[in-house]
Amino acid sequence: MDINLLLKKLTIEEKIGQLLQLSPFHFIRDIEVEVFGHLKELGLTEKKVFSAGSVLGIHNAAEMISVQEKYLRKSTHQIPLVFMADIIHGYETIFPVPLALSTSWNPKLAFDMARVSAIEASTAGIHVTFSPMADLSRDPRWGRVVEGFGEDPYLNALFTKEMVKGYQQDDISQDGNVASCVKHFAAYGAAEGGRDYNTVDVSRLSLHNYYLKGYKAAIDAGAKLIMTSFNVLDGIPATINKHLLRGVLRDLWKFDGLTITDYDSLHQVVPHGNAENDEEAALKGIIAGLDIEMASTCYINYLKKLIENHEVDIKLLDEAVLRVLKLKEEIGLFDNPYKGASVELESTLVRSNDHLEISKKVAHESVVLLKNENLLPLSTHKKYALIGPYAETRNTNGPWSWHGKNELNHTLKETLLEKNISMTFVKQVVRVEDLTKEDLIELKNVDAVILALGENERESGEAHSKVDIKLPRNQEEFVEFFRQAGLDSIVLLYHGRPFDLSNIMDAKAILDVYYLGSMANDAIADILTGVINPSGKITMSYPRHVGQIPIYYNHLNTGRPKIEGDRNEYVSYYLDELNTPLFPFGFGLSYSKFSYQNLRLSQFEMSLNEEISLFIDVQNETEIGGFETVQLYIRDYVATISRPVKELKGFQKIWFAPHQRRVVEFVINKSLLSYLDDQGNEVIEPGRFQLMVGSSSIELTSLDIILKKEEVNDFKK
Ligand code: GLC
Repeated sequence: MDINLLLKKLTIEEKIGQLLQLSPFHFIRDIEVEVFGHLKELGLTEKKVFSAGSVLGIHNAAEMISVQEKYLRKSTHQIPLVFMADIIHGYETIFPVPLALSTSWNPKLAFDMARVSAIEASTAGIHVTFSPMADLSRDPRWGRVVEGFGEDPYLNALFTKEMVKGYQQDDISQDGNVASCVKHFAAYGAAEGGRDYNTVDVSRLSLHNYYLKGYKAAIDAGAKLIMTSFNVLDGIPATINKHLLRGVLRDLWKFDGLTITDYDSLHQVVPHGNAENDEEAALKGIIAGLDIEMASTCYINYLKKLIENHEVDIKLLDEAVLRVLKLKEEIGLFDNPYKGASVELESTLVRSNDHLEISKKVAHESVVLLKNENLLPLSTHKKYALIGPYAETRNTNGPWSWHGKNELNHTLKETLLEKNISMTFVKQVVRVEDLTKEDLIELKNVDAVILALGENERESGEAHSKVDIKLPRNQEEFVEFFRQAGLDSIVLLYHGRPFDLSNIMDAKAILDVYYLGSMANDAIADILTGVINPSGKITMSYPRHVGQIPIYYNHLNTGRPKIEGDRNEYVSYYLDELNTPLFPFGFGLSYSKFSYQNLRLSQFEMSLNEEISLFIDVQNETEIGGFETVQLYIRDYVATISRPVKELKGFQKIWFAPHQRRVVEFVINKSLLSYLDDQGNEVIEPGRFQLMVGSSSIELTSLDIILKKEEVNDFKK
């Protein structure tokens, strides 16, 4: 298809229509769906609806085919609709939520998850997924931390890159592949107070060194679209922010794909106070470089008038429309408007046993053992009780789990009984008082209690922020009650955000299972019984108190750092809480025990284009084989800008057989020593750097190196 020739044939209304994205029911009209926002008030004419360029949220192949057929019957130029949807961590085979997946420290699992998601979504005729969500966040009050990959930019970038590759592979026109739309650009995860949709106010330095890294990795991996975020940045909504959409995306990153708003976010520029009305929002959007408008009607209602009044150059419209037509051509829609849609494939591929097995494999590595005083793995010679609000839950898919059907998931009771574990007492109760006298008598015969605690799926995710990140009091009381009764507790946490666990530290074991998807309790049973040795490491700091937030590992030193044991009071600390997290970034236990010895370097100095090899001996001290993620952190002691006390710069997840000892090597080159200035340009400065290696961001051993001065272009402000 010659899309430039096609563009020339379009009227201005037909061009503007290509920038409109609507929900499918507008085309079907027989599905009553509550529409958020002002679409209903504005009322769309039939002509406008059937000029739209894309559809948000199709449900299956039959619906897609029906909508496309209806649409093309009315389409003058036979330009097919492109179908987009939120396939975040699975289509019907649901995988661990991204925050859980990130604890695997195995980005290849993200590729596997995206692959299966794309294969299943493609059978429904979905062409674009609004994923990965690359929003870095340091605030567990924010409900959407569940959708992201944690607080570290390096890890975030690795996972978003693999997600894009898994969705798209090399050719989005192939069935089984979907285009990736990375989101939410930009810095949505820095919402003040952790309150969703709230103001974001971060420096350009923070933007480039932390918040933008994930989106850039997705763009570099070839993501075809990027979605703007609801928040302002520098006082301007991201959706009409020219610095972001043209300055960073087009000029700095050379992105030539599509930009799309979040739901209704172009209209929301008006309540933000950056536009008098939808007309002004449309003007600012097209000038800023915004292409597709999702679920609001500023463009469709006002862009023609703005162009006819010469307030907008039609070239801006043509550029945006050409990007839409180019995407449709790349997907192959002009050759096959029903690309991918297959009712029969839907019935065989979706939620297949093979896919479920992949989901379980991913879940095995997405669990974090936070505490274990020799209670896990469970023993077939002991008797256990399983108690708590999630003791028999099937609701393990978590937020944004599209067509995932929780009711098809197994309960932990079912999966543990298959493992010949003696569960002599199982009761799904929400508080201690729900246990009867007879229950308490029965409980005298068990050796330990498994407490299934946490929050439900609607307590995290979009628009679900919280000020209190402790477990509900009634749940904490289970741990206290059984401690007083002399019974050991093993706590399982089903949840979507880091918790303040300070009130349940009397539990003898804590296993963080997040929401692991369709095979959650199958994977959890494998871990509880030792079939699988847990290997996850947390990717967000777990606070001791919500008052510590934002708390993150790669913080600056300040001019008055608090030094443990130092009695000087005029330093940066709290009167009523420690500075450190309860559980630090990168922390996670195993049934194995690993020791780190003999850190050494090939040399202590390097010039700009040399490399240094760092070696450390790691030993599995037990009879149990297991994975260990050996982590490398670097500190730049002195630079033009203050640098973090440490930054993750590498890691290796390695299998250790029983008692196996390995020499682990990291190669240090200049790319690990640089940072970005406030324009996003890379800077390397000479001087002393600290190299740290260990099993978490605090259990580290370190050596210093020197980057020699003579060959480095100093960065001078
Ligand atoms: C929502 C979310 C976004 C999603 C979009 C379409 O409001 O913010 O993540 O992709 O709308 O459903």
